[in-house]
Amino acid sequence: MFQKLKQRWKVNGLNLALIITTFALGGSLCAYAGRKLLLLMAIDKTTFWGIILYILLITLLWPLAVLLVSIPLGQFPFFKRYITRIFSRFGSKKTGNNPAGPSTRIAIFASGAGSNARQVIDHFSASSTVEIALLVCNNPHAGAIAIAKAAGIPVLLIEKERFLNGDAYLPELKQYDIDLIVLAGFLWKVPAQLIRCYPQKIVNIHPALLPAYGGKGMYGHHVHEAVILHKETESGITIHYVDEIYDHGAIIFQARCPVDAADTAASLAKKVHALEHRHYPTVIEGLIKK
Ligand code: GRF
Repeated sequence: MFQKLKQRWKVNGLNLALIITTFALGGSLCAYAGRKLLLLMAIDKTTFWGIILYILLITLLWPLAVLLVSIPLGQFPFFKRYITRIFSRFGSKKTGNNPAGPSTRIAIFASGAGSNARQVIDHFSASSTVEIALLVCNNPHAGAIAIAKAAGIPVLLIEKERFLNGDAYLPELKQYDIDLIVLAGFLWKVPAQLIRCYPQKIVNIHPALLPAYGGKGMYGHHVHEAVILHKETESGITIHYVDEIYDHGAIIFQARCPVDAADTAASLAKKVHALEHRHYPTVIEGLIKK
């Protein structure tokens, strides 16, 4: 059960303990405050109307009480989101069945031009159930940054040591309440602890038909050059889950295109990009609906 909660709320063990403590202390505080208020108003809590008023009071006081308790326990951002979403649940269709994550919130990880990021962003821009909540980027000059900013999406610029050997930016992913990570031309290896926190929730797109032409160093033009060098007659795209080995996780989807004798790495890249743009957003949508 605790494991499930950790995954659902994207928190580690310590945070989960603090969240549960906040729930408990907040509940006690609001019950205490409710009783005191009834006493002040000289209302008998054992009468019918006393009970109704008491229930109303603790319903109103509960959000305030947990928010208050969450401050010294360092859980204010979680409870602010949690309570906002409980309220939005009554007022909006957007809300799903998880108060800590009403819609699917995607973080796109990109390192380069960002044409796939753009397609995914555009595809979900009018969605009421899927939100591109964050762009994570390791390259301050990446085109993906301008694309995200233009769409009003927050950008998190990351540095290598912390990503690979530190906390993998899990606190930020938790802060943005990310449910699904979409790699779109992200060049760093995804660290094991991030994969463990997002089991089957990190997807990547690769510009070839895996398992061929994958692995370390197989990115961008290197892939297309290798395909042409080996005189392949077809190439394509692979959308797959990310595991701890480069370009290795379970394949979700593949699409093919012909490689003509006259193709260069650049012309093949164009064909492959067209396939990526056509399929990546809809495959992601399909995964979310599953
Ligand atoms: C794409 O070809 C994708 O398959 C690979 O990196 C490239 C990113 O291109 N993983 P862009 O930055 O989305 O234009």
